[in-house]
Amino acid sequence: MRRLLIAGNWKMNTLRETATALAGALAEAYPQEPDSVEILVCPPFPYLLPVRDAIDGSAVQLGAQNAYHEAPGAYTGEVALDMLLDVGCRWVIVGHSERRHVLGESDELLNKKVQAALAKGLNVIYCVGEKLEQREADQTEQVLDHQMETGLAGCSGDALAKLVVAYEPVWAIGTGVRATKEQAESAHKHLREWLASRYNAELAEQTRILYGGSVKAGDDQQKQETYELLCQPNVDGALVGGASLKAEEFKAIIEAGERAAQAGTNA
Ligand code: 13P
Repeated sequence: MRRLLIAGNWKMNTLRETATALAGALAEAYPQEPDSVEILVCPPFPYLLPVRDAIDGSAVQLGAQNAYHEAPGAYTGEVALDMLLDVGCRWVIVGHSERRHVLGESDELLNKKVQAALAKGLNVIYCVGEKLEQREADQTEQVLDHQMETGLAGCSGDALAKLVVAYEPVWAIGTGVRATKEQAESAHKHLREWLASRYNAELAEQTRILYGGSVKAGDDQQKQETYELLCQPNVDGALVGGASLKAEEFKAIIEAGERAAQAGTNA
């Protein structure tokens, strides 16, 4: 049974006051981890420390949105994995579509980051996802295969114990156009099959695959849709952007996850 993970990617949002208020509201709501759901927030680098203090002692975990793979040294503007560990991060996101497509990070660079972060003992959320034109050209599975193959190259099955995959179709990120539960389930199933064929069935069964892209819970309909998404057998949580910036909405997504876990539809 895979525990659901509901993760908030705050992207380049918040200031110190709003970041700590948001983190504080979540920490207050979740002093203890719900039975079935893990909770994670990934604030911008400058707010990792104040957010860590705000969530201290609660069930909310801390992650970073990016890191550099090299040991500390002459890499102006970069943040080392050791620094993340030093400020209490247990998680790091690698390969987010904005890093791939806006900041131009290559498959090769992302592979170095995945390998280095796993070697440091961090939990890695490795993001994959196709662009709209690739989906329309029926290339979704090829794109996912390529991103998995290149991103995880050289990683042993043992190394992947701390890997979480996030399927984030680029066309669904920040657009309000969420993948349907059927589209998400189909991509997640494909990713799990990739893990089974490239590694083994046990690893594929244990690896969590999150969905990201316009996951919302702003009204009853969105809550229901998020619940149904999280009920899909191969959807093991969500990586949430915009809706993770509002404590009430993020809490509603966590609650949808709790309900989905109780319904027991996940593998
Ligand atoms: P939105 O939820 O804002 O679409 O962002 C998704 C995302 O990119 C999470 O990493």
